[in-house]
Amino acid sequence: MFKVNPYRPGAGLMPTYLAGRDEDIENVTQMFDALTMNMPAQSIIFSGLRGVGKTVLINSLQKIAEDKDIFCRHIEVEERNDFISQIAACSQAFLRKVSTKEKFKHLIQKPLEAIKALVISLDPNDSTFSFSMQEKELYKSINLTQGLTDVFTTVGETAYKTGIPVCFFIDEIQYMKPKELGSLISALHRTNQLGYPVMVIGAGLPKIYKMLSDERSYSERLFLYKEIGSLTDEQSKNAIEIPAQKFGITYTDAAIDKIISITKGYPFFIQQMCQVVYKNAVEKEIGCSCVENSMEEFYKLLDVGFFKVRYERCADSDKKFIFAMVQCGELPCTISNVAKNLNKSVNSVSTTRAQLISKGIIYPIRYRELDFTVPEFSGYIERLEEYKLWCEKKE
Ligand SMILES: Nc1ncnc2c1ncn2[C@@H]1O[C@H](COP(=O)(O)OP(=O)(O)OP(=O)(O)O)[C@@H](O)[C@H]1O
Ligand SMILES: [Mg+2]
Repeated sequence: MFKVNPYRPGAGLMPTYLAGRDEDIENVTQMFDALTMNMPAQSIIFSGLRGVGKTVLINSLQKIAEDKDIFCRHIEVEERNDFISQIAACSQAFLRKVSTKEKFKHLIQKPLEAIKALVISLDPNDSTFSFSMQEKELYKSINLTQGLTDVFTTVGETAYKTGIPVCFFIDEIQYMKPKELGSLISALHRTNQLGYPVMVIGAGLPKIYKMLSDERSYSERLFLYKEIGSLTDEQSKNAIEIPAQKFGITYTDAAIDKIISITKGYPFFIQQMCQVVYKNAVEKEIGCSCVENSMEEFYKLLDVGFFKVRYERCADSDKKFIFAMVQCGELPCTISNVAKNLNKSVNSVSTTRAQLISKGIIYPIRYRELDFTVPEFSGYIERLEEYKLWCEKKE
């Protein structure tokens, strides 16, 4: 029988019930209020593992900000990114909004010049604007930090004078190039100093914290840095139960406990597990046996989807490195143990380590310690034939 399934496993798919993020939402809403009073607000970075709910959280925040008439733009940085041209396009969109009001038209020229300068300093052949030779000469020597700071401060000034605050939402921020990230921090810092209502809400993998402090030491004060993790038992219970309630479907306590222990409260796993359990349910009350009967299907779906897409992005040397991490037994593990499992020196595996960090598969925790950005990834690796063969060969 066809059933409407209320669970939403998938990247950035808004769940029917967003569990456990009330406090973050409330805090940020207050910051939006400050912004709408023409005051600058501290920018925020949400960090966490894959599938923990960063994208859906910042998307929910964007809706709230839009309802408060804050000018919002969402940017998703990609691995082969073009962040600067995206931010330039978003700034232009802001000027278009401002230009719809006749009385504000005179406030556009300055930021427009700054955007043009940024675009041309990045790529003299860019065709977004038409430039005279003279303009090209004038703009081409501007460096990135200066260019982006000019854009942010002039956009900020216009935001302030028009009373239209600005919030940029930047997802997958860890893919920004270090130079761009450094420029973004400087630009935001200067705009804050001038008291303009411009804010950034970013989301990224845990390594972003180190990236920020490596770029500018003061970034710790500029950003509120918030780690988001798996849901508590109470929050998981809500994430499991509430979506089904509308359809008159309930869970026994034992079924809920079982789902929590399998998913460990990771939002993506909850959505995926409940989607399968709900589909397989034959009674109005879902019990433990239904959960147990759905487990194999659940793991299979993860193995061919969530885990596999990450694994397949790895080169052979990356995979060996991952195997050696899993073989350490406990995570986080040290790079020296990984090297030992590979019979190699620490120096000779450092390139692979850097490669895996940049691909967003692993991240450094404390000094010399590493873990996967994908929750429960080691369990997946242990299920792989390739891993089992590798272990056998080593013996
Ligand atoms: N608070 C929550 N309550 C219930 N479900 C959630 C919650 N947060 C996220 N989800 C679900 O978890 C899944 C992953 O969410 P999302 O794509 O936002 O994660 P992410 O942290 O951005 O992952 P990635 O690092 O891979 O981009 C989605 O299916 C979403 O519906
Ligand atoms: Mg995401």
